[in-house]
Amino acid sequence: MIGAPVISVRGVGVRFGDVTVLSGVDLDIRPGEVHGLIGENGAGKSTLGKVLGGYYGSSEGEIFIDDRKQSHWDTPTALENGVAIMHQELQLVPGLTVAQNVYLGIEENHYGVLSGTEGKRLERLMAECGLQLDPDAVTSDLTIAEQQKIEILRSLAREARVIVMDEPTASLSKTEVDQLHRIMRGLRDEGRSVIYVTHFLNDILDVTDRVTVLRNGTMVHTRDTSDETKETLVSAMLGGAKSETLYPPKARNPGKVVLSVRDLSSSMGARVERLELRAGEVVGFAGLVGAGRTEIARAIVGADHATGTVELDGAPLVVRTIRDATEAGIVMVPEDRRGQGLVMSQTVAANVSLPHLANIARAGVVRRGEERSLAQRVIERFGVRPAAVDGDISNYSGGNQQKVLIGKWLAGNPRVVILDEPSRGVDVGAREAIHQEIARLASEGVAVLVISSEIEEVLGLATRVYLVDSGRLVDEIDPDEVGEAEVLAALFKHQTTKDSVA
Ligand SMILES: Nc1ncnc2c1ncn2[C@@H]1O[C@H](COP(=O)(O)OP(=O)(O)OP(=O)(O)O)[C@@H](O)[C@H]1O
Ligand SMILES: [Mg+2]
Repeated sequence: MIGAPVISVRGVGVRFGDVTVLSGVDLDIRPGEVHGLIGENGAGKSTLGKVLGGYYGSSEGEIFIDDRKQSHWDTPTALENGVAIMHQELQLVPGLTVAQNVYLGIEENHYGVLSGTEGKRLERLMAECGLQLDPDAVTSDLTIAEQQKIEILRSLAREARVIVMDEPTASLSKTEVDQLHRIMRGLRDEGRSVIYVTHFLNDILDVTDRVTVLRNGTMVHTRDTSDETKETLVSAMLGGAKSETLYPPKARNPGKVVLSVRDLSSSMGARVERLELRAGEVVGFAGLVGAGRTEIARAIVGADHATGTVELDGAPLVVRTIRDATEAGIVMVPEDRRGQGLVMSQTVAANVSLPHLANIARAGVVRRGEERSLAQRVIERFGVRPAAVDGDISNYSGGNQQKVLIGKWLAGNPRVVILDEPSRGVDVGAREAIHQEIARLASEGVAVLVISSEIEEVLGLATRVYLVDSGRLVDEIDPDEVGEAEVLAALFKHQTTKDSVA
């Protein structure tokens, strides 16, 4: 028996200025289902989620709760009706503790006096769902993965009937993703509903009951997940047949050593005795979340204080700041696009030109023409949508922001490129473009280091892979000989002495 939908929308349309980002969307969410929502970057998934959450009150269309048409729909009304959102771009208050962020706006109070019971409530909630964090830790001190867990706990704390989870797993480890899937199934068994937005199609097939596909702001269809395969989903998203991601051919003849690292030791726990990157090779770092992969990269580029030797083309290099590294030709594309990567208040062009100001400014004045053509090249190379150099970056979808972030760092002529989670949150097409770009860099003699939580991606791109644990390179493997499952098993084996929570 199928109950009446808990929430439905009919004919939803959202416009920003004269750009239509959603039109004519119909969606029914049943009680007790995990409902997948997929589509390419910019297809309108996050926008649809926000419509449900009451963020775009004035949009076109109708909203029904338990078959009753709502005359008025905004964020408080949505919460009252049990609809909560876990945002794609983390929206936590950095200076508050974990517990304060989780209960922000729903604090317990007695006649207006806060009772300060958030810590205890949070302990109970975490015990119930199996996610662990220190309730008193200050949010800004935590990693993105931990902050993502706060967002998940926030949505659970609202005891909603419908929870929209917008790419909740982007920076979670495999174990944490499994845990989140268990939470989703638990919610479903209680008769609650989850709308699950993700680019991981295996997860969609694994955990959802039905799936809705969006393309260019319109609905393609809603179907039972059991009737779908990875191929049918991809072709519905793209509007034509297209198979799984194929990796570009790997360059097999690396040149001389470009980057050489000895006895590197950083304040954040990176410990590398020896690492060499050769011209034209792609080296991968595989590790569990919290293994210290990012910390090693940060130590190399001078983002964290470190001791040891770094040599570029055989000459010793002093890198005290990211800028020293960038100017020497070593660039790092960071994983956190909001915190470290992009300036949200600026245009695409201004963001792209930031690391290259030295080259495009004359007598301290930025040449706007050069800035625009640099941005135009990035837009074309990565298929950034909308394709506007003057576009305000904060209005771009998560995946399109990621394309700009990568393009911005690659727009110079680097010797060494380090990419940290390069395809996080990007769709199938953009992912392929990024992989092609990595292969192209290598073919031009750049030394590339790729860090990814997706083991399959590391194996698909790199010719040499290091397993990383506790900030150390604990093993080197040949990606053509070793499979995903073996790598994962090896990583867990190295990790056994530690607590599994990053
Ligand atoms: N406030 C805004 N002003 C202008 N355009 C916007 C705004 N918010 C979103 N858009 C545009 O709406 C479109 C849909 O964006 P949305 O964030 O819903 O995509 P998405 O499917 O979630 O993509 P992704 O997979 O990259 O997260 C994009 O083209 C985006 O640039
Ligand atoms: Mg989105």
